[in-house]
Amino acid sequence: MQLTNFILPILSLASTLNASPILAPRAKVPAGVFTVTDFYDSGVPHSLYSYVSFNVQDPSFTAYCTASSSVMPTIATAPFPTRCNKPGVSFGLEYKTGIGYVLTIIHRYNKDQTIDLGTIWVGTDVRTRVNPANPNGNVQYINYPTNFTVPYGHYTEPKKTK
Ligand SMILES: *[C@@H]1O[C@H](CO)[C@@H](O)[C@H](O)[C@H]1NC(C)=O
Repeated sequence: MQLTNFILPILSLASTLNASPILAPRAKVPAGVFTVTDFYDSGVPHSLYSYVSFNVQDPSFTAYCTASSSVMPTIATAPFPTRCNKPGVSFGLEYKTGIGYVLTIIHRYNKDQTIDLGTIWVGTDVRTRVNPANPNGNVQYINYPTNFTVPYGHYTEPKKTK
């Protein structure tokens, strides 16, 4: 049931992309990978403040992505699409009930006629680092590698015939 809940949105997204008159099913999956470095999602429960940040690149671009939020646990989430600092690059980090945290990265280019789109599951492993000297300084974080890759599918708009 939980796995179904996780997979269905991805399948429906994929079928939406394939069914769309704008985006033809010219996908080679995976077409490549986004390389993510310095991924960090952490917060301070005392202040109810958290943020997520990371660098992302593939051979054609490098971008920095960040967002902050006030939720408990203090793991920042960001609606998809939240813009990164490069045109065409956006991400989402969403909490799915019963599933955990899901990271999505999209790169739109070629006058928005092409998209690379990848999603990975970063799990549910929220931990608390206790500060013995000052409980107000306790930090929550998601236990996930800082550097990893996100495989993406490659989709192009069909050529228009005149
Ligand atoms: C992650 O990648 C960054 C940038 O390449 C590097 O500086 C850092 O040492 C790497 N961290 C780990 C844990 O490999």
